[in-house]
Amino acid sequence: MPLVDSREMFKKAYQNNYAIGAFNINNMEQIQGIVDACSELNSPVILQVSRGARKYAKPSYLMKMVEAACMDTNIPIVLHLDHGDSFETCKACIDDGFTSVMIDCSHLPLEENIRITKQVCEYAHNHVPYVCVEAELGRLAGVEEHVNVSDEDSSYTNPDDVERFVKATGVDSLAIAIGTSHGAFKFKPGTKPQLRFDILEEVEKRLPGFPIVLHGASSVVPEYVKILEENGGVMPNAIGIPEDMLREAAKHAVCKINIDSDIRLACTAMVRKHLNEHPEHFDPRQYLTDARQAVHDMVAHKIKNVLGSENQA
Ligand code: G3H
Ligand code: 13P
Ligand code: ZN
Repeated sequence: MPLVDSREMFKKAYQNNYAIGAFNINNMEQIQGIVDACSELNSPVILQVSRGARKYAKPSYLMKMVEAACMDTNIPIVLHLDHGDSFETCKACIDDGFTSVMIDCSHLPLEENIRITKQVCEYAHNHVPYVCVEAELGRLAGVEEHVNVSDEDSSYTNPDDVERFVKATGVDSLAIAIGTSHGAFKFKPGTKPQLRFDILEEVEKRLPGFPIVLHGASSVVPEYVKILEENGGVMPNAIGIPEDMLREAAKHAVCKINIDSDIRLACTAMVRKHLNEHPEHFDPRQYLTDARQAVHDMVAHKIKNVLGSENQA
């Protein structure tokens, strides 16, 4: 099936109280692991590409691998730019064939965020075929694209801004900050993980039926941290978002849940385990088979325990 945009996916997800997983991709094993798991569970999926991923894998390789995934399965797949930093980056991805882009000007003053987001929407929505646009209000803490946003510089989304932002820009979905953050260290050790569901509910009231996005939604699954550390890895004080909280958010207006760190963790933990158990192996296919399986298993786990998107393709 050819790539699709996310409008229909989000409409169904909103109405039926589940969310679509948006998984970051950088290489073939990740794409195959994600798409195989989604195909087996008959789940729609968003494959997302950061600027770092485009630099690492090269845009043309990523496009061709995603095209190959589309030929290999019948589930709906969206190809999305994660954290686009400028109109030019978004335009380049739209021209390459992405079906969705994020313009992330959440660090800029509101009026500037509106101006650039509107410019991207005008280009994306007049493109044939239509391309969806995600924007962000509020600012998540954590590491993303080598930029480290401290807890002090992060800010929750102000529900008073959302209606005007959506109307003024024409954006298709909105990422909000309610306490999630990028990376594997989301809460201070000893503190209880919490999300601001009151903000989510207020946003939902102001924008009925409108799809909301959660970034920084890895749970840093403890079983994999254990495997990583048993095999020489170091990840002290790693704390993610409890999965039951994310499942709850998916029953509300949250239609897209971004997961990258959990996939990185699963891959690296299983490669470490493989190499520890088989020090004689030097064929990359031997340990990358385990890496691909780890991605597959993590995605299947998320579909069943967090997203609720099984059999919704
Ligand atoms: O939010 C950012 C994603 O986790 C992508 O990370 O920029 O290191 O590829 P990256
Ligand atoms: P995590 O670091 O929690 O996986 O978040 C990923 C993300 O938001 C990508 O945009
Ligand atoms: Zn993000």
